[in-house]
Amino acid sequence: MERPCRAPSGIDLSVPSVSRIYDYYLGGSHNFEVDREAGRRAIEAFPDMPKIMQANRAFMRRAVRHAVERGVTRFLDVGSGIPTFGGVHETAQAADPEARVVYVDHDPVAVAHSRTVLKGNDRAGVVAADLRSPEAILRSPEVTRLLTPGRPVALLLVAVLHFVPDEDDPWAAVARLRDALPPGSLLILTHAATEGGPMKPEEGEKVASVYRTIGSPLCTRSRRDVARFFEGFTLVEPGLVPMPTWRPEPREDPDAEPEARGAGEAGAAAEPDRAADPVFTAGFAGVAGVGRKP
Ligand SMILES: C[S@@+](CC[C@H](N)C(=O)[O-])C[C@H]1O[C@@H](n2cnc3c(N)ncnc32)[C@H](O)[C@@H]1O
Repeated sequence: MERPCRAPSGIDLSVPSVSRIYDYYLGGSHNFEVDREAGRRAIEAFPDMPKIMQANRAFMRRAVRHAVERGVTRFLDVGSGIPTFGGVHETAQAADPEARVVYVDHDPVAVAHSRTVLKGNDRAGVVAADLRSPEAILRSPEVTRLLTPGRPVALLLVAVLHFVPDEDDPWAAVARLRDALPPGSLLILTHAATEGGPMKPEEGEKVASVYRTIGSPLCTRSRRDVARFFEGFTLVEPGLVPMPTWRPEPREDPDAEPEARGAGEAGAAAEPDRAADPVFTAGFAGVAGVGRKP
């Protein structure tokens, strides 16, 4: 296989990666043919996949701005992926140039790309770690350097927990991270949900099989099980809801939403129009919420 020059050394290009498939859905360029092929299979099974990922990213940006507006300017983004297209550091530092961000991912490709993207940004760092090892995250030099002790943190777990199976007890790992946060901290979370979605069971099974074959099975969960990740936190209004209905903002300039032109979709409408689209208002489209530590 030809090795693209931007592929970090030591990366197995014959295996698709979740973060690069996601980048492909968003219309990014940090992906290889093996990822695009897997992404195309998922889109073939469910053509609205890219729209769901765009809604996920749009929620993430709104939640980050919400955090900064409330004075929370320290961000710990676990399962951060490849931070292109209005990633957390861009959104947070546009709202407050002093905002600090620690990205964490277990995928070496996501980590390598994140390091490249963040070169020269001394208020952002990257940790290679697995969320199932919260102590490794909390003790990392980047967390110590960038997250000021005693200052509230926005912990992001966006579109990542559905890659951790029940038997690995993601609730325990999240509880450990939550417990380490000072009062006033926020938990920003999205999760693929099982209830009442637009995806037919056979479509869902085909999408799930794509992720199974790449070794990252999808664990969609009930809203009740997703709500357990917020234990001890107070959900801010409007609670745990379909992604586009969490505090939609007035129509934005489509140029400010670059991934709206992602794979399978050219020039998609911005958020308020999406909120009226049934694909976004239920089920597999996923649920989103922000909780606050009292
Ligand atoms: C769908 S992407 C989401 C990226 C980003 N959070 C967003 O929503 O824009 C999921 C990311 O979670 C990462 N991931 C999956 N399981 C993980 C784990 N156990 N620990 C850390 N990262 C994980 C994947 O490598 C991937 O980059």
